[in-house]
Amino acid sequence: MKIQSEFSKYADQYGNYNIIQEKVVTKLLDDLSEQPRRILDLGCGKGALFSAIDWKVDHFVGVDFAPGMLELHPKEGENVSVLECVYGDFNDAALFEQLSYNGFDRIFSASALQWAENLENVFKNIASLQKPVSLAIFSGSTFKTLFETAGVTPLLRSSDEVEALAKCYFNAKVEIVQYKLEFDSVREMFRYIKKSGVSGNRNLLGYKEMKKLMESYPLDYLEFEVVFIKN
Ligand SMILES: C[S@@+](CC[C@H](N)C(=O)[O-])C[C@H]1O[C@@H](n2cnc3c(N)ncnc32)[C@H](O)[C@@H]1O
Repeated sequence: MKIQSEFSKYADQYGNYNIIQEKVVTKLLDDLSEQPRRILDLGCGKGALFSAIDWKVDHFVGVDFAPGMLELHPKEGENVSVLECVYGDFNDAALFEQLSYNGFDRIFSASALQWAENLENVFKNIASLQKPVSLAIFSGSTFKTLFETAGVTPLLRSSDEVEALAKCYFNAKVEIVQYKLEFDSVREMFRYIKKSGVSGNRNLLGYKEMKKLMESYPLDYLEFEVVFIKN
């Protein structure tokens, strides 16, 4: 297991609430040693991975359970004619049965599997497709100090838990990357949390608790932790 960390500043990219997710997509692609031509992307959102691919692919299947996200996929560009958006839930074993009829070269999932209801089952279903994987999953130290300050238990599975599960189902390299995103003001930071979707859009605190947290949060940055699983 390799641990690395990276520091970025939000002010430079004002209005971009997907900075960390974009970094995750970039790393997933940078880590490849080949250019897969038949791709599955689980929890594809509005197509960040699809849009970042700069080579010709034969088939790109993006799965998401939010139709509004699928609709936002690019409508033009080199690979659009081979893009297939599938409305589906990665918690559902039947989805993988349906997907097993495709021959994929690689299965990706970027910043989505942290919301798996049962990660072990989802890993088992992904592994049943018997294809190489590139998975990136947000883990427990995301917003660590924020949760500690608020006295709230972390929302996500720990990196140890994700890694242990990954080792059971994939013969893969596991890398844990810590990202820090710096802000000019606490208000900006909290707006980011709300809009970025990293918190799963859950309102963990009431107005008063949130106000108190904003006053007492000791850092000028947010912490993110992502487990990368690749074979
Ligand atoms: C933070 S976004 C990441 C989107 C994209 N992969 C990216 O890197 O920008 C997480 C995505 O996972 C999707 N998602 C969450 N749970 C899901 C599920 N059970 N089945 C399918 N998609 C899911 C959400 O709808 C959302 O589009």
